[in-house]
Amino acid sequence: MTEFSPVPVARAAVRWSLGHALPRTLLRRAARQGDLHGRMFVATQSDDVAALEPVLGELRAHGPFYRGKYASVSTDNAAVRALLSNPDAASGFVPADGGSRLSRLQAWAMEDAPLGPLTPPSLLVTEPPDHTRYRKLVSRVFSVRAVEQLRGRTQQIATGLLDQIDPSSPVDLVASYCSLLPVTVIAEILGVPERDREKVLRFGAAAAPSLDLGLSWREFRRVESALREFDHWLQRHLDGLRRRPGDDLLSQLVTAQVDGVSLTDTELKSTAGLVLAAGFETTVNLLGNGIALLAQDPEQRRLLAERDDLWPNAVDEVLRIDPPVLLTGRMTTADTEVVGVPMNRGSVMVGLLAGANRDPQVFPQPEKFDVARANARDHVSFSAGRHYCLGAALARMEGEVGLRTLFERHPDLRIEPGAVRRNTRILRGHEQLPVTLSP
Ligand code: HEM
Repeated sequence: MTEFSPVPVARAAVRWSLGHALPRTLLRRAARQGDLHGRMFVATQSDDVAALEPVLGELRAHGPFYRGKYASVSTDNAAVRALLSNPDAASGFVPADGGSRLSRLQAWAMEDAPLGPLTPPSLLVTEPPDHTRYRKLVSRVFSVRAVEQLRGRTQQIATGLLDQIDPSSPVDLVASYCSLLPVTVIAEILGVPERDREKVLRFGAAAAPSLDLGLSWREFRRVESALREFDHWLQRHLDGLRRRPGDDLLSQLVTAQVDGVSLTDTELKSTAGLVLAAGFETTVNLLGNGIALLAQDPEQRRLLAERDDLWPNAVDEVLRIDPPVLLTGRMTTADTEVVGVPMNRGSVMVGLLAGANRDPQVFPQPEKFDVARANARDHVSFSAGRHYCLGAALARMEGEVGLRTLFERHPDLRIEPGAVRRNTRILRGHEQLPVTLSP
């Protein structure tokens, strides 16, 4: 059957309707009726990060969970952590008992879905016992030690990228620095040969919005077709690495075993896809958000210039105050309770990471950007519990090298008019950040 025959298109239309169009319509309608979850969804449309603050404040006034029409939403640090660590709260869709018509429709639509960051067996939507086995294998390869070995190379990449920029004319740092640094590091992790780099970067850029919610039909089709192309390329790449392994992390993942069991090809491709998407959509936002915050705050820049041991903490403070991932969702697989609040099986729950990061019970003066904040690291921008971000050490290292290298070389960089934030809802960052490096 070709991609253009009616059944695959109908399946794709159902996937899009259930995953994007329906939630968007329902949440917009709920917003008009005053539902705070709906209002928060609508506020994410604004490219002004401050637009979220009033809704976060109203949600917080409802205690650990606000019971919305479609989901219970939390902005409370302890409740978000408890939710993300609850064994009965799963990260994927939980079908109704006996299989409702909706879940049967969803299962039919997913039959030919391309492999993506939000489709099984992606770690993000896999639960124990599979998740435990699979994660053990992947984290063995993505260890803190392995990441530290990438620090020198990351430094070279950062310096090389800055060398190519003319400091006296305005430049968009998202295009020429924030996006290129993480994707170049990821290409090395995945062992992408030089000749395929550009191709893989094209797949990655096209597939990356798959982590977002509320895509248009056209965007959705573009994303799915890029995911399929990436899958074909990856299969050939993995076959090549099996024959001739390199010293990259993906080659190690191909041969990694726990109790004599390795990852399947589908699990390997899914992990590689997730790592690529993270390189495109999260670390780039950490760098862009960090540049914007520091460029506007000479006092904090001065502090960092005086005490360069504060850089790792500054990266956590950037992650706390402007998290690249706004929220995450869970669905309960059994009747349970979270911080004493009862939840029935099948409840949808949203942990607003950005809200938990501004919980005044944990962070005094939460709106203040303070690179010396003693507990900046207590943010939940990398999630918590069993799905805690596997790339956290890598992202922190890249954030530190990327920001420090830029500001040490160009301490007076100035943001020019024309900064634009991305129009994605869950992923928060800059689309364009024009600056002059040496005014
Ligand atoms: C600033 C950068 C990053 C941020 C803010 C971030 C954020 C997150 C969050 C919030 C989750 C968990 C979502 C949930 O609980 O539902 C997650 C999971 C994950 N991240 Fe990251 N991430 C970043 C960078 C990276 C990088 C560079 C990699 C590449 C190695 C990566 C790989 C992963 C993987 C594989 C998971 C799934 C873990 C699991 O489900 O067990 N992330 N990330």
